[in-house]
Amino acid sequence: MKRTKIKDILLNDSFDYKVNVKGWVRSFRNNQFVALNDGSCMGNLQIVIELNTDETLLKRITNGASISVDGMVVQSQGKGQKVEVKADSIEILGDCDPEKFPLQLKNKPSLEYLREVAHLRFRTNTFSAIFRLRHSLAYAIHKFFNDRGFVYLHTPIITASDAEGAGEMFRVSTLPFENPPRDEDGGVNYKEDFFGRCTNLTVSGQLEAELGAMALSEVYTFGPTFRAENSNTPRHLAEFWMIEPEVAFNDIYDNMDLAEDLLKYVIEYSLAHNKEDLDFLNQRLIEEEKLKPMNERSEMALIEKLEFVLHNKFERITYTEAINILLESPAYKKKKFQYDVKWGIDLQSEHERYLVEKHFKKPVIVTGYPKDIKAFYMRQNDDGKTVAAMDILAPGIGEIVGGSQREERLDKLTERMHEMHIPTDEMYWYLDTRRFGAVPHAGFGLGFERLVLFITGMTNIRDVIPFPRTPKNADF
Ligand code: 4AD
Ligand code: MG
Repeated sequence: MKRTKIKDILLNDSFDYKVNVKGWVRSFRNNQFVALNDGSCMGNLQIVIELNTDETLLKRITNGASISVDGMVVQSQGKGQKVEVKADSIEILGDCDPEKFPLQLKNKPSLEYLREVAHLRFRTNTFSAIFRLRHSLAYAIHKFFNDRGFVYLHTPIITASDAEGAGEMFRVSTLPFENPPRDEDGGVNYKEDFFGRCTNLTVSGQLEAELGAMALSEVYTFGPTFRAENSNTPRHLAEFWMIEPEVAFNDIYDNMDLAEDLLKYVIEYSLAHNKEDLDFLNQRLIEEEKLKPMNERSEMALIEKLEFVLHNKFERITYTEAINILLESPAYKKKKFQYDVKWGIDLQSEHERYLVEKHFKKPVIVTGYPKDIKAFYMRQNDDGKTVAAMDILAPGIGEIVGGSQREERLDKLTERMHEMHIPTDEMYWYLDTRRFGAVPHAGFGLGFERLVLFITGMTNIRDVIPFPRTPKNADF
């Protein structure tokens, strides 16, 4: 018989029909009731086993074992479910020794422990909910852009340019480590490398997306990006996914509107399509909060927070206003900030979170950052000091989006590149867009994992990507 997904049985109120179901045993009570899960939804399907079933078969129905069941969907006698399956026959697909099964060894495994067994953590309610949500968000993002006529552009993963100019790149090379070919000056001779030059994993698809936008008008990328920054924080990954729209003729204000619309769209989408998973994560968070001291508890539960963000306009302030708010804050006056506050600093996570969580209590879009702390491609403002940058700061996360209006004026752009020691000859292809039919344009990057953190209410970025890559960690 063809397999039926558990979700379809549970969603369907009807009964008195035969099915085949397959899945993993979540629990087995009284040698009679199996809670079966196949990942199609949060809920387990109850399987009722005949009392006279063979002893040796019963012994093999352990937590974690995979089974196939043929049986009849019937109205449930018990509480907690409308329907259940009365088993006619059970086949063990894969045994699972409970003495050795890592998820069985701990009573309530912590998130830290589950990171050590990340290959199995999909089997827990929390992680299956997170990864169903992650999928849904990826789909919603593509839908958002598709419905607006954007073209999904696949930008390269291997590149020779450092888009962000931060120099935090992983090298891609086939040269021998031990004894690489040398040039006359004794440096590594990349002319002999695979691509005939020095190449890296991309830190952003933006520069290439800009080239696409200069013909297709509206494009976006959604791909993996890599940063070799040594930040072992709950918000940084060495390999993460980024969504980068780039739009011709947009200015910084259109850019802010697009980013706010995107965030609200995906929140709304997940509330409409992933209610069961969100309810579970909401409850999980409420339980976690109970363990914290009163003054550290968050003011809103997860779903309440998402609804709030959805129905309120994001605050929009300039960097200068942000600095002034921080300087006026009780936290600053009581010297609670670890890092100093003055005009020109790069806002630290503690500053961002103060603005969002304590001051405005909602997402904030900060614009007009000092040019010296931002990338070369951002459009210079008339004051000569700031650029048309925008960061969106989200409660519990800090920076979730970083973007800008781009410098489309060739002279200003090359001048800035010279100041920042970025070789203009190697970047001729980027500068050509400013030589041949340049137009104002703008875009941003949304960190996908930071978005998933925000929507699931998880607090560590390692828990929202299936296999996290962080300094000293590339297991599985
Ligand atoms: O602010 P960033 O560095 O901006 C760019 O890369 C631009 N090229 C984007 C653009 O304008 N097209 O990164 C964008 C976002 C950040 O706001 C953050 O959400 C996420 O990417 N991000 C990271 N997420 C996880 N781990 C890291 N190490 C991240 N670095 C940035
Ligand atoms: Mg940034």
